[in-house]
Amino acid sequence: MTHPAFAHTQACVFDAYGTLFDVNSAVSRMRDRVGPQYGEISAAWRVRQLEYTWLRSLMKSHTDFWHLTSDALAVTLRTFSIDDAQLHEELMQAYLSLNAFSEVSSVLHQLKQAGMQTAILTNGSPAMITSAVSNAGIDEVIDRQLSVESVGVFKPDERVYQLAVDELNVEAGNIAFLSSNAWDAAGAAHFGFNVAWVNRYGQPSEALPGTPSAMLADLSELPALLGIC
Ligand code: LAC
Repeated sequence: MTHPAFAHTQACVFDAYGTLFDVNSAVSRMRDRVGPQYGEISAAWRVRQLEYTWLRSLMKSHTDFWHLTSDALAVTLRTFSIDDAQLHEELMQAYLSLNAFSEVSSVLHQLKQAGMQTAILTNGSPAMITSAVSNAGIDEVIDRQLSVESVGVFKPDERVYQLAVDELNVEAGNIAFLSSNAWDAAGAAHFGFNVAWVNRYGQPSEALPGTPSAMLADLSELPALLGIC
């Protein structure tokens, strides 16, 4: 049965990193090169990358997500006393072809078959997201790729969420927003989207303004939420 909050959904808007694409797949693919601390290194890279988005937004000193991700990796490798420019380069290249989570392609196909509009709204730069989408073979089931580069500030600034409203020409209340990042889910709900938090890692909810309407274990539960089955 359709979840009441999602009954009037006209477009599904997806966060990219962590939601469609596994950010840990870059480091884990190269675990032999990175060494036994690869899991901690991957987590530290992600945390610093996100911190830099929030800090740069506050400092009003935007740079695109590619450069920011590279900066975050450089500092992370230094933190772990790894001095290896080649490894840095290879990890950045791996970030362009992150694995999509296993259910992503089939769920997107289901949504498109049901006539749903689909979009990505991401911190990622256009080149990064085009590459990830193409590598995952989901180009045909993603109608629009929206990057924060159009507004020059990172999530959760409301100008980012407004970009989806403006570009898709769908009211916020008719947009279903899917993110595995709890802070992004909160930001999008605070803005006015109907949010399903894709809680892939069983994390506790955040104490932030904005409450998601639903929580999913992964995206395979999305079609049922929308009444598409
Ligand atoms: C993104 C980050 C938040 O894709 O994962 O926007």
